[in-house]
Amino acid sequence: MDNTRSHDIAWLPGDGIGPEVTREALRVLDAVASAHGFSVTATEHRIGGAALDETGRPFPTSTREACLESDAVLLGAVGGPKWNDNTGEQRPEHGLLTLRKALGVYANLRPVRVPEARAGASPLRPDRVGGTDILFVRELTGGIYFGTPEGRTDDGARSTMVYSEAEIERIAHVAFQRAQRRDGHVTSVDKANVLEVSELWREVVPRIREEHYPDLELRHLYVDNAAMQVVRDPRQFDVVLTGNLFGDILSDLAAALPGSLGLLPSASVGGAVGLFEPVHGSAPDIAGQDVANPTAAILSAALLLDAVGETAAADAIRHGVDAALDAGFRTADLAASDEETVSTSTLGREVATHAADPAPKNAPTP
Ligand code: IPM
Ligand code: MN
Repeated sequence: MDNTRSHDIAWLPGDGIGPEVTREALRVLDAVASAHGFSVTATEHRIGGAALDETGRPFPTSTREACLESDAVLLGAVGGPKWNDNTGEQRPEHGLLTLRKALGVYANLRPVRVPEARAGASPLRPDRVGGTDILFVRELTGGIYFGTPEGRTDDGARSTMVYSEAEIERIAHVAFQRAQRRDGHVTSVDKANVLEVSELWREVVPRIREEHYPDLELRHLYVDNAAMQVVRDPRQFDVVLTGNLFGDILSDLAAALPGSLGLLPSASVGGAVGLFEPVHGSAPDIAGQDVANPTAAILSAALLLDAVGETAAADAIRHGVDAALDAGFRTADLAASDEETVSTSTLGREVATHAADPAPKNAPTP
């Protein structure tokens, strides 16, 4: 076995529950690394509110440089009440947006799975959500998050939704290529009945399909209808392709399907270095109590391993998560009122133990 492989990770715990959930992700990474013959070196850096407190900026140059020099970035979450009165570039969230832009990670992948066996944890009827398997492909470095002009005017404020054809083309390629490895069906979501930028989106996406992926299915939904459909019949979706703002909203909505935002990982790719972070936020109300669900962070670490080529170890992590959850280890967000709950660190240790099992059986892929 090759014992020389090593991966340097920039670890950005951030704020709120970010540190405690990513600590469990690192624990699990360590466990699978030794079992699979590679090593992981994680170096901690500040971002968000933690960076503001220490340096006066939410994304210090030292963090930027460390991320760009790393093999991958593992991030917790940013923001919290302490910085709620901050505005513009002094907001913790601004640090995260600048990081995404600095890495050039324009494609945000957010898989949402509801295994039949765990459909009972969903707030929706289990017979409607069991078996759901959606991959949201959210454009991440453009759209209204980054459009100009932006700011205050004499009598109000404005933000602008801008997409170039090239930006739409490259994210469409990502969605179609993912669909090729899944069920071959892409739903493109926009607001083309109102927005000019969506009209362009609806021209470019079908052109990319015709030119490069004629065998794949493509349909278009308006975002309001898409939101309703995700709740009404989530199993109709395979890959959902959408812009930055719509993807932000729809992925939180879809995160309710498995019963907790604490389960959903994300990978942001397409740039120099990949960024891996849970979909959930910093949850300041439960921070520091060892009760947060580390699953989203742990599964983000699995996506990180996929991206650096350690796919067997990534599968082992997913196996570990399924094994721990199926064995009844539930943090408070997942437990029914009569069920016993476990702490963040207990669930993390349980996943690590199962993930380090060298012979995972039937490991699923997202
Ligand atoms: C997310 C978050 C971020 C976003 C915030 C914290 C800037 O909600 O990753 O979905 O809107 O992209
Ligand atoms: Mn969000």
